Amino acid sequence: MTTESRPAAPRERAAAELTAARARTAALTDAVTDEDLTAQHSPLMSPLVWDLAHIGNQEELWLLRRVDGRESMRPEIDPLYDAFQHPRSERPKLPLLGPREARRYAAEVRGRVFDLLERTPLEGSPLLDDGFAFGMIAQHEQQHDETMLITHQLRRGAPVLTAPDPDPPQGPPPPTAEVLVPGGPFTMGTSAEPWSLDNERPAHVRDVAPFWIDTAPVTNAAYLAFMADGGYRDARWWAPEGWEQIRAHAIEAPLFWHREGGIWLRRRFGVTEPVPDDEPVLHVSWYEADAYARWAGRRLPTEAEWEKAARHDPRSGRSTRYPWGDSDPTPAHANLGQRHLRPAPAGSYPAGASPLGVRQLIGDVWEWTASDFLPYPGFRPFPYREYSQVFFGPEHKVLRGGSFAVAPVACRGTFRNWDLPVRRQIFAGFRTARGGDA
Ligand SMILES: [Fe+2]
Repeated sequence: MTTESRPAAPRERAAAELTAARARTAALTDAVTDEDLTAQHSPLMSPLVWDLAHIGNQEELWLLRRVDGRESMRPEIDPLYDAFQHPRSERPKLPLLGPREARRYAAEVRGRVFDLLERTPLEGSPLLDDGFAFGMIAQHEQQHDETMLITHQLRRGAPVLTAPDPDPPQGPPPPTAEVLVPGGPFTMGTSAEPWSLDNERPAHVRDVAPFWIDTAPVTNAAYLAFMADGGYRDARWWAPEGWEQIRAHAIEAPLFWHREGGIWLRRRFGVTEPVPDDEPVLHVSWYEADAYARWAGRRLPTEAEWEKAARHDPRSGRSTRYPWGDSDPTPAHANLGQRHLRPAPAGSYPAGASPLGVRQLIGDVWEWTASDFLPYPGFRPFPYREYSQVFFGPEHKVLRGGSFAVAPVACRGTFRNWDLPVRRQIFAGFRTARGGDA
């Protein structure tokens, strides 16, 4: 009794998504000098010029070589752009393509890919069905664009990116701070979404006990109350590894925050500004999210709870693609796609609310969940083990919902992201839950 719906997946969708991804890549890499492109702004990140050529190299690998059966265009560079051969900290020392060469290479690959997209049938193999490999590559490029935006956030110096602020919330705030999600089975994961990735598959039934979940992500104001109450100085709230981490690194606030004259300020893409009270908190580790939740007498939702809150429609019993239904996201539904360089105030986007009234599940901030990154029952690695399988295990925590930096093509109610619980530079916040059997 797994029921879900699916979108259309025309050739035009693949062309449009590849084009949108490349426009964003260009904007992120054209915004800085060549010197900046080749510099390493943080040992956590690659130089931007690595991402640029890696985007082209993965596109060549999957579409021109695997789908179309061609030989490698530049065999000598392939190992340089294999993420598994070189950790990020080592990449600046590699003989990487320079900015001009990297741009030219990525453009040449793209030209050949568009020829292929015009003539290849989008059926007949798992890579081709519904244009999956093209969709996978568009998502891959957008995910690297998000990574490059993180590099921009870590970069020191004058601002080079601009975007309008989100509008103030439309309509009244949510009527309550939390909602009750009824217990019982629901369909988790997907077998129908054509561009879903292996770790989102297959659809399966999960039983979840009734639980309460926040109608909006935890705000800076709420998080400041935790800080003011000595949250960072009280071991009671912290997982032992989290306590060790904040003490070892003298952490006392979210990343990019500092205090001046009794006011908390943050650095955001080169701008220093007071921390806004009403925005979802950003740049906290899983440990910080977990400690806040315990201090508040609550807990992080499990991944299954998060997905039930986001997809289960109690009126129909179906799981929808998004909290608001099956239609693709629009700017009225969610803060996605780097239209803004910050989350929108908590309580925004009533049009994007779930049937139970939970808001901002999609967009704004990635949301840490309580869950380890594990395969669903019936998981099969596709198209390669390194996509997801090698990351399964207790060392990675699942994040859900996407952030303002995530493109719609790489964001769904089923989309799963994962990271180490110490990570803070990612665009992550959280919401809390209580009750249930977690
Ligand atoms: Fe990659």
